[in-house]
Amino acid sequence: MLKILAISGSLRAASTNSALVAALALNAPEGCRVTVYDGLGRLPIFNPDDEGERTPREASDLIDAVTRADGVIVSCPEYAHGVPGGLKNALDWLVSRDAAVAKPAMLAHASPRSLFARAALAEIMRTMSFALFEGEPEIALLGKKPAEVEANLAEQANRQAMREAVQGFADFIRSR
Ligand SMILES: Cc1cc2nc3c(=O)[nH]c(=O)nc-3n(C[C@H](O)[C@H](O)[C@H](O)COP(=O)(O)O)c2cc1C
Repeated sequence: MLKILAISGSLRAASTNSALVAALALNAPEGCRVTVYDGLGRLPIFNPDDEGERTPREASDLIDAVTRADGVIVSCPEYAHGVPGGLKNALDWLVSRDAAVAKPAMLAHASPRSLFARAALAEIMRTMSFALFEGEPEIALLGKKPAEVEANLAEQANRQAMREAVQGFADFIRSR
């Protein structure tokens, strides 16, 4: 059973990115278990002085979760043409470790815009030595209300697209 960790870069209660990672978990194909990381909002702000023995528990939990996972899925909004601070903070906790090195990762997109954040996130994650899978699923949920988001994600075509994307990512993980 492949273990995949899914991270949403939005803390908004009605986040479309969080809805997307939850739906990816729900529609994961056989042989994959997708678990959603829910600690982003509790992570202290990264400080290199707080690494090693001083690493805060919340950061250790994230590092352990990424280390244990066979792959990582990230879906995040764009704020002012950049990656949201909360997600960048989480990634910063992983930089000077082995957790991200050669770890398969897939981006997922809940907005058809966000092209600056997509490019920046890919650059950051490649620099951290994640192995990025190119088959990124995109389901346009931008600006939709929670009921519409739920209905969209429940559509047969979208469920199939999500299943196929996670299957493609699982094949990529297994091929490495
Ligand atoms: C402070 C702020 C800045 C934003 N800046 C951008 C931007 O530069 N480009 C863009 O495409 N969307 C921008 N957006 C829109 C969000 O990226 C978009 O609404 C996203 O889908 C929200 O994700 P969520 O539903 O998971 O919270 C911004 C939203 C906020 C709140």
